[in-house]
Amino acid sequence: MTLKKVLKALKPLKGSIIIPADKSISHRAVMLAALAKGKSVIKNFSQGADCKSTLEVFKMLGTDIKFQSTDTLEINGGILIPSFNPYRCGNSGTTMRLTSGILAGQKFDSVLTGDESLSKRPMGRIIKPLTLMGALIDSVDGHAPLTIRGKSLTGIDYISPIASAQVKSCVLLAGLNASGVTTFEEPALSRDHTERMLKYMGAEINIESNRVSVKKSELAPKTIEVVGDISSAAFFITAGLIVKGSDFVIKNVGINPTRVGILDVVKRMGGDVEVLNHRIISGEDCADIRVKYTEELQGCSIGGEDIPGLIDELPVIAVLASQAQGETFVSDASDLRNKESDRIFCLVKELRKIGVDIEETPDGFIVRGKTLLKGGEELESYHDHRLAMSFYIAGLVCREEILINGFEWTKISFPEFEKLFSVLSD
Ligand code: S3P
Repeated sequence: MTLKKVLKALKPLKGSIIIPADKSISHRAVMLAALAKGKSVIKNFSQGADCKSTLEVFKMLGTDIKFQSTDTLEINGGILIPSFNPYRCGNSGTTMRLTSGILAGQKFDSVLTGDESLSKRPMGRIIKPLTLMGALIDSVDGHAPLTIRGKSLTGIDYISPIASAQVKSCVLLAGLNASGVTTFEEPALSRDHTERMLKYMGAEINIESNRVSVKKSELAPKTIEVVGDISSAAFFITAGLIVKGSDFVIKNVGINPTRVGILDVVKRMGGDVEVLNHRIISGEDCADIRVKYTEELQGCSIGGEDIPGLIDELPVIAVLASQAQGETFVSDASDLRNKESDRIFCLVKELRKIGVDIEETPDGFIVRGKTLLKGGEELESYHDHRLAMSFYIAGLVCREEILINGFEWTKISFPEFEKLFSVLSD
């Protein structure tokens, strides 16, 4: 395990960076291109390990995938061929949950496995709707490995108890190959990349706010250019707001309305962030974001319908809140306990070590600021990429250096993280 030393930032962060590709969109691009008959091209594909897991799974399923360059893929899709070996999804919940939706309706059986963390994450949330559609799935008490016996599927009208893009996408992808109409309704709108891409590739899809329906559809191959990941940009947005004197531009950030919760929270906190050059790329909203150091941030309440739009950003929002006056109250986020780690427990435990005034609640946390962080401690990443990067940002405003154990896990979503930091701090 790599121990990363992080020192207090002594200079403002300046300049500009291009944020790397969105992880969620990259996964979906491979999957939908694998289903579409003919040649699709994916440009600006994520270099993270999670998306590599999806690529490997679809290669095993017989999809013809060629690299035109490190981040441009040519995919000739249309048929899936079974493999006798298990499909290894690594650390990636998106790979496992979405691929299960595709495999449930095939004419062959499949086994999906995950690493230690993924094997602890709940799969009942996809097994339940897929089973209602006629799928046959064995699990270890609702956990991976999953054994999927391919069956003919029938559309359902599913009212999901949770807002989850992974569950929604799983059901919609199963619906592409099911008879009748498949409808998914969720309590709040989660990220809608699957819906947008399905529309872009010609699927029969109907969207009415939190309710979406698909019919059995053939997809048309397309060129998909992946926009930058706002969840990766969130670390830089936070750093810019809290490192004295910073002023820089983050280019090519995906600003899909279902993902911009971090920008709303920053506005509520009084942070100086500007959205520039709004454009549409392959059906997704994209912009450049200018961020400036903001001396007087204010704590705020975050809960309810805010949560799906910033679920992955909550660890770094805790760091931001430690530098804001007053209380930041996060609620309705109990699903954070089901991520790559129990992100409520682990976050609170580690941030307390460096002096953050943070309290765990059953469904979130409360941060009281503004605090001069002391640092001088070793923090554990719990093999969780977003915790590792959040702690790095906290380290930039600690009086003494910190150490982060397991920093190499940043490779899961954002292998370029540190290199991009050095661009702004040179
Ligand atoms: C994702 C959806 C979210 C998110 C995850 C990626 C996706 O998970 O936390 O990092 O790509 O659909 P849930 O659907 O479990 O909320």
